[in-house]
Amino acid sequence: MQSLRTYVDEFSADIKPHVDDCRTEFENKPFEIGGIEVEAPILYAALRIFQPERVVEVGVANGVSSYYILSALEANDNTGTLTSIDLPKYEDDHTGEWDANAGAWIPSGREVGWIVPDEYRDRWDVQIGNMSDLLPNELYSGDVDAFVYDGPKRYSERKRTFDMVANSVGDCLYFCDDIAWNPSFERWADQNRLRWDTFGNAGLAVDGEL
Ligand SMILES: C[S@@+](CC[C@H](N)C(=O)[O-])C[C@H]1O[C@@H](n2cnc3c(N)ncnc32)[C@H](O)[C@@H]1O
Repeated sequence: MQSLRTYVDEFSADIKPHVDDCRTEFENKPFEIGGIEVEAPILYAALRIFQPERVVEVGVANGVSSYYILSALEANDNTGTLTSIDLPKYEDDHTGEWDANAGAWIPSGREVGWIVPDEYRDRWDVQIGNMSDLLPNELYSGDVDAFVYDGPKRYSERKRTFDMVANSVGDCLYFCDDIAWNPSFERWADQNRLRWDTFGNAGLAVDGEL
């Protein structure tokens, strides 16, 4: 295993530039690309260190976090799969405030997860629908090694989702973005006697050493 610094440097040099290129498409839009930002190197490095075989994600939008996860899986000796669940919001269907979806709108003419390059897609399964309906099927087998959550921020929804995952899977790495919205992630991790830490606006929790 390499040092955390090695993985963060790998992320900055090889992975992040693609997202910065895609960001130019949003220059004249009233919304941002909407992906995880300063916490991204932590997600990438954690997946490089923990080497998960199967990752499940909630919240795709334009696909920033999905791209980071798939990049880490490829760098992990080209092993592992990602299943991502999303109920996407498209610019063309927009009403109300642009902030309503934490800024994560998909521009006209683009599909969910569009920034993920073709060469990463053979290990990626995208499921469109409500996480409450789709997640139980993904958890059924119990073989989830990492769960990445960047879906709805509300306390009750987040807690319910993490409870559902923890009740179904064994040893798992949990990542949650936007933890500053409310203390649901930290409380859930304490209640489940997990080791957890926060990095900026992201939380990580595991059953063993962190
Ligand atoms: C903050 S965005 C995800 C950004 C993404 N992780 C990235 O890095 O680009 C949150 C996403 O969760 C979706 N979402 C909201 N409620 C959902 C639900 N009940 N089930 C599944 N996805 C949902 C939103 O439409 C949006 O696409």
